[in-house]
Amino acid sequence: MTPTREHWTSKLGFVSAAAGSAVGLGNIWRFPYVTGENGGAAFLLIYLAIVFSIGLSVLIAELIIGRSAQLNPAGAFKKLAGGAWPAVGYMGVITAFLILSFYCVIAGWTLAYMVKSVTGSVLLNDAAQGGATFSAFISNPVEPVVYTAIFIALSILVVLGGVANGIERASRYLMPALFVILLVLLARSITLEGAYAGLVFFLQPDFSKVTWGTLLAALGQAFFSLSLGMGTMITYGSYLQRRQSIGGSAVAVATLDTLVAVLAGLVILPAVFAFGAAPSAGPGLTFITLPSVFAQMPVGAFFAVLFFFLLAIAALTSVVSLLEVVIAYFIDETGGSRTKVAALVGALVFLIAVPSSLSLGVWSEYTIAGKGFFDALDFLTNNITMPLGGLLVALFAGWVLRREALLELAEGSSMNRTVIGAWYVIIRFLAPVAIAVILVSGLV
Ligand code: TRP
Repeated sequence: MTPTREHWTSKLGFVSAAAGSAVGLGNIWRFPYVTGENGGAAFLLIYLAIVFSIGLSVLIAELIIGRSAQLNPAGAFKKLAGGAWPAVGYMGVITAFLILSFYCVIAGWTLAYMVKSVTGSVLLNDAAQGGATFSAFISNPVEPVVYTAIFIALSILVVLGGVANGIERASRYLMPALFVILLVLLARSITLEGAYAGLVFFLQPDFSKVTWGTLLAALGQAFFSLSLGMGTMITYGSYLQRRQSIGGSAVAVATLDTLVAVLAGLVILPAVFAFGAAPSAGPGLTFITLPSVFAQMPVGAFFAVLFFFLLAIAALTSVVSLLEVVIAYFIDETGGSRTKVAALVGALVFLIAVPSSLSLGVWSEYTIAGKGFFDALDFLTNNITMPLGGLLVALFAGWVLRREALLELAEGSSMNRTVIGAWYVIIRFLAPVAIAVILVSGLV
């Protein structure tokens, strides 16, 4: 255990870093296509309801656990309860690794597409051609791996700076930059001819399309987007000083995260409709559909570079938070220096990112339960370990910490008693039941 734990220097710094973790590929790449696949506005409403009830409550629970233990997730459960609970923390550290292995690959693609937008080689007018170019790129055994390596190296540089000088400072500049870029793109997108159909799709609900699968998709998306269920927010909470309050910051983080997702939807879906592309194009929406949209736009190359730069920034602050879970664990447990641990973790992440990338090309015949390595990890983390982690966090805060958790939440905060009471009811009853039901029914 390190005797002098670093802390965030201010509330704004903490909120920027936590929002930096939350806002990522999940908001800009994943949210619009998942919304597109799940029928648009009805999904959006369900998503909002889940984020501000279950999502926000689990976020608060994770911050409470981290702040009170002042340790990484595994250490925190060990210190606060012992028994089998540290397993939740270990599961988190492992999940962070698994997410990193495919997340860094996608993040690498964003860098590649940024570079390729400068030269114009990906801005093809035709979606079929765009699809072929994308497939050829991601299945190439060398090029995406190189971009992934560059991306991991950039993230490690930030993490090496430490909590306050690295993570907090980077987030404080990058997050506002991201907002400005999104607003510029928004102005362009909604003024395109034909954009209105996209707005209708995104904002006018049709509940006939809602199934258990929709609910699971919304819950999974909420957890992924808020960085929940695997210890990121426990780790970030552990860098809070006890007198730094939790409630208001958590609301700010959830609001910023949702705002970026909604803005991303408002940028991407109208553009997709304006150029007659399909909103249900899946993960390729961002890399296939949008470049063809940019190709048809005046000064499209400029907007394309700006867009992929935005994605890369968003991904960077999220990867940093995932790396920090693993790094904090090794620093706390081995007492190793940040530099040594970060270098080692960076190398390990690269090693597991390579099979993820190759599974989309030369290694595609190797499968786990019928899925390639990349898809298997994506499925396992989003649909199983993260909801399960969230369920266990809720049970832990509501049934093991109980009154202690309530006192923690009240500590250093001016939160109203009714709000604190509402949180307690959600975390004890609503969140565990809802997560369990959605998890089980979504799987069967
Ligand atoms: N929330 C990030 C996104 O939306 C991804 C992420 C970062 C994450 N840390 C996480 C997801 C921890 C789950 C758990 O892209």
